[in-house]
Amino acid sequence: MYWSKTQSRARFNLATSGVASFPFRELPIDLKELEINGDDSYGYPPLQQAIATHHGIEPDCVVESAGTSMANHLAMAAIMEPGDEVLIEHPAYGPILDIAQYLQANVKRFGRVEENGWAIDPDEVRPCVTPKTRLIVITNLHNPTSVLTPDSVLREIGDIARSAGALVLVDEVYLDAVYDDTPRTSFHLGPEFVVTSSLTKIYGVSGLRCGWILAQPDLAWKMRRLNDLYSATPVHPGELLAVAAFKHLDLLRERARPIVEADRKLLRDFLEQQSSVSAVSTEWGTTSFPRLLLGNADAFLERLRSQFDTSAVPGRFFEMPNHFRMGMGVNTEMFAEGLNRISRALR
Ligand SMILES: Cc1ncc(COP(=O)(O)O)c(C=O)c1O
Repeated sequence: MYWSKTQSRARFNLATSGVASFPFRELPIDLKELEINGDDSYGYPPLQQAIATHHGIEPDCVVESAGTSMANHLAMAAIMEPGDEVLIEHPAYGPILDIAQYLQANVKRFGRVEENGWAIDPDEVRPCVTPKTRLIVITNLHNPTSVLTPDSVLREIGDIARSAGALVLVDEVYLDAVYDDTPRTSFHLGPEFVVTSSLTKIYGVSGLRCGWILAQPDLAWKMRRLNDLYSATPVHPGELLAVAAFKHLDLLRERARPIVEADRKLLRDFLEQQSSVSAVSTEWGTTSFPRLLLGNADAFLERLRSQFDTSAVPGRFFEMPNHFRMGMGVNTEMFAEGLNRISRALR
């Protein structure tokens, strides 16, 4: 996060993960409906209901949170005690690892490998689980690769967790970037599933900080009580705007879709032409995770930024120093020129 906030800026910024900002003026809302304070001690009921309806579940399974960041923190903190084992995918979104370490969990890893299309292999997960395992954590779509894990595999992971008395935390913040046949949340797959998500990445309204956790009612209540420590009450204007965003969710999602799709087409052409990078292609998602065949990406990315005013995320933040992550869905002209500059830097 520190790198992203202080070092990632460039004229051609491919170090992104979410889509372009949705302009406030295009959100159909009557400003007279905004209010500063409201009745929202443990969640604003209309927002709880909007999130519940979006997922086809009951509102008492929904916990409001400040983005997926706080959602992941609350979920892991409510589930784990210091010393509990948590099994986290590799490569992983760094802050998920950091939360586990901050909570003094005993962190174990299972690999997702490029040769296997970055898929989750339940046979890799099974031997890592012990009676002390409390939680298995995955992202779906996977950050950094955007690979989708099908329900059949998620079910197997759920079975593995259940056999050890553990839960599965699925961070689904990128899942709605699967524009056709969008999978239902894995929360429906069984009571061992806990899900985090938000409107931050695919809907262009990150500033609303509208995030949530889906959990069984008892656990959801524990998370709400824990959140009393962090945000005694939520930001009510943000809740009202989030309710408005939910009313027009298709408008928000469809606005970014053509940009994501145009960028992906450019990315495909770029990867076909490049002999010094390789990547697993996906049909969806806002990120891609190419490997630099020549080796460590750090020096390359530094040169890319200083000489070509173009940035991408170093793979070292995903414990894969030969890779880098590129983001789609912000601005196709910028993306095209960013790719063009990466090609020149590679040459
Ligand atoms: C997998 C994953 N989870 C959570 C987050 C944080 O998202 P939010 O902005 O909703 O807090 C990110 C941001 O990059 C992410 O990639």
